[in-house]
Amino acid sequence: MKNLLDDIEEILLMGPGPSCVPPEVYRALSQKTLGHLDPYFLEIMEELKIMIRRIMNTANTLTLPISGTGSAGMEAAFVNLVEPGDPVLILLNGVFGVRMNEVAQRLGAQVEVLEFPWGTPVELQTAEKKIGRKSYQIIAMVQAETSTGVRNPVAEIGSLLKGSDSLYLVDTVTGLGGMEVRMDDWNIDVLYSGTQKCLSCPPGLAPVSFSQKAMQKLKSRKTKVPNWYLDLTLISEYWGQNRVYHHTAPVNMLYGLYQALLLILEEGPEKVFSRHREIHQALVQGLEELGLKMLVEEQFRLPMLNAVCVPEGVDELSVRKRLRSQFKIEIGGGLGPLAGKIWRIGLMGHTARKENVDRLMEALQEILKK
Ligand SMILES: Cc1ncc(COP(=O)(O)O)c(C=O)c1O
Repeated sequence: MKNLLDDIEEILLMGPGPSCVPPEVYRALSQKTLGHLDPYFLEIMEELKIMIRRIMNTANTLTLPISGTGSAGMEAAFVNLVEPGDPVLILLNGVFGVRMNEVAQRLGAQVEVLEFPWGTPVELQTAEKKIGRKSYQIIAMVQAETSTGVRNPVAEIGSLLKGSDSLYLVDTVTGLGGMEVRMDDWNIDVLYSGTQKCLSCPPGLAPVSFSQKAMQKLKSRKTKVPNWYLDLTLISEYWGQNRVYHHTAPVNMLYGLYQALLLILEEGPEKVFSRHREIHQALVQGLEELGLKMLVEEQFRLPMLNAVCVPEGVDELSVRKRLRSQFKIEIGGGLGPLAGKIWRIGLMGHTARKENVDRLMEALQEILKK
């Protein structure tokens, strides 16, 4: 029987995730599998929690990787904190805010959505007015809206919420590891991310962190967490000192995340973030030289996710197909209302390197030449 794995090509991953995986992380993934209660593995778990806290800039005890992709992190955040009838406000400006709404609705929350035009950020004054009118159990926002390439004002909304009873929930699936995230300084109570974007590890884990205030809500729930697999009261018993079996940890994925975080911390987070900014500038310059326009205004752009307007008369899908087949490069298309209108070019983690931008520019020049 033919083994399909033998023919996997080396594709330059410049889409919205997954991003390129460094060789050190591939090596880590193929290390010997240990038992999930093995004392050496427990040591790795302890170090992993410390590294996640460092990258999130938090001292929260309840900080651990959920087994599952970024969406599992989102589900875990909401399912542990929402009870039926709880008022939840979502500041929404893209697909992942829509997903938050969907998740919170399914839990029976009374969800209100404050929507901003896609391609623009959450606007502070409008959000402030809305927040001032009512007491919400949770106020949620996406830091880096991967569907549009917009950076939302996470720190600023956090200052508005200082001293408030609401829990501040932030999605950093695309941001973490590529731009600053200061969970404690920004008054964030619940934060989740994913491994396959700027952490440059394959998809499969979702680092999450809960503040003391969020833990308090979790402890004082009137109803059981309605999802057994994502119940943090149970999962934290395994990740805490008691080591009570809940589910078998994805041991090798955790090695991968360990190595990915180590690489970022060794390079230095500040250096990693400025590398992302510089490579983003190089990309934008190259795109503009080709006559292409960015969707998002300069000051609100994300470095790691670049939304580029498809020029009039160009079939966006055939460009992506040619990039993939002829040049072995993957970029993303638009989602929802932006489908067919934009390309999404990712410069996440290990992908954020000048040689990758140069390779993409050469390919686009060839494809788009008249
Ligand atoms: C901002 C954001 N949140 C959540 C998710 C969901 O993550 P996953 O696809 O890993 O489940 C994504 C994925 O692209 C994302 O970009």
